[in-house]
Amino acid sequence: MPELLNLKQWQNQVRIALAHVPIITRIHALEAVNSTNDYARKLAQNGAPAGTLVIAREQSAGRGRLDRIWESPANLGLWFSLVLHPKISAQHSGLLGFLPAIALVEVLHQIYQITAGTKWPNDVWINRKKIAGILCESQVNARQVVFAVIGMGINIYQKLEDFPEFLRPRATSIQQSTPLRVDAFELLKQLLTLWGDLLWTLESGLTAMIIEHWKKHCVHMQQPIWITGGPEQFRGKFVDLSPDGAAIIENDHGERKRIFVGESILLEE
Ligand code: BTN
Repeated sequence: MPELLNLKQWQNQVRIALAHVPIITRIHALEAVNSTNDYARKLAQNGAPAGTLVIAREQSAGRGRLDRIWESPANLGLWFSLVLHPKISAQHSGLLGFLPAIALVEVLHQIYQITAGTKWPNDVWINRKKIAGILCESQVNARQVVFAVIGMGINIYQKLEDFPEFLRPRATSIQQSTPLRVDAFELLKQLLTLWGDLLWTLESGLTAMIIEHWKKHCVHMQQPIWITGGPEQFRGKFVDLSPDGAAIIENDHGERKRIFVGESILLEE
């Protein structure tokens, strides 16, 4: 657990860390909020520019995908949402959530030599446990993404006992994965810098590069998984990621399906 900062000191640290991160244009650094995604969506609806970041020390009603709760206690993690006006077609909006996941995996390796991986659709895992989740809420018209709010929760300093009991078998934190002291502000700075580079790659039309990056880090490529949380539930092998971000799953009869919504559960081989 890092030394405790008061609100002013924490806000200053956030601002100093992000002062030269090109993707960030505005910062709302809050003591507590229900959900940074809800706060950021309201800002976006009222015309907030791309690069508006909402970050809170604590969320009282942090939301995960598939209507789950996201535990967001004070001083133990990073809870934030970024407003984007990405210049991409609606067809590629499903790729937006891959960018922060790829960025986190790469930054963890660069700074702490931690081997993390991506798990479909938008999780980051270390040693078969989740360290980060991403919640993408986009407003799209027929052809284009009007705005996107990308929320990210990263478990940084939790010890096992800090997680509620039901999460302990499948949640972990970055600090549990390295003997080095994790600096949350430095991590945020590096992550958002790389996220900006990846967004530029996506906006330049180099979608195949994003797909390849994600696949390289995927923890379940060619592995048996259970697909759940969407319209269908079934067991299959994760064989590929399609150009629009759908999971391509092969069932036991060798038939392939494209899955757009849901979640993957790793199975023992
Ligand atoms: C998931 O894995 O289910 C997604 C979790 C996303 C959590 C983050 S924390 C910041 C932002 N605000 C929220 O209410 N949710 C996202």
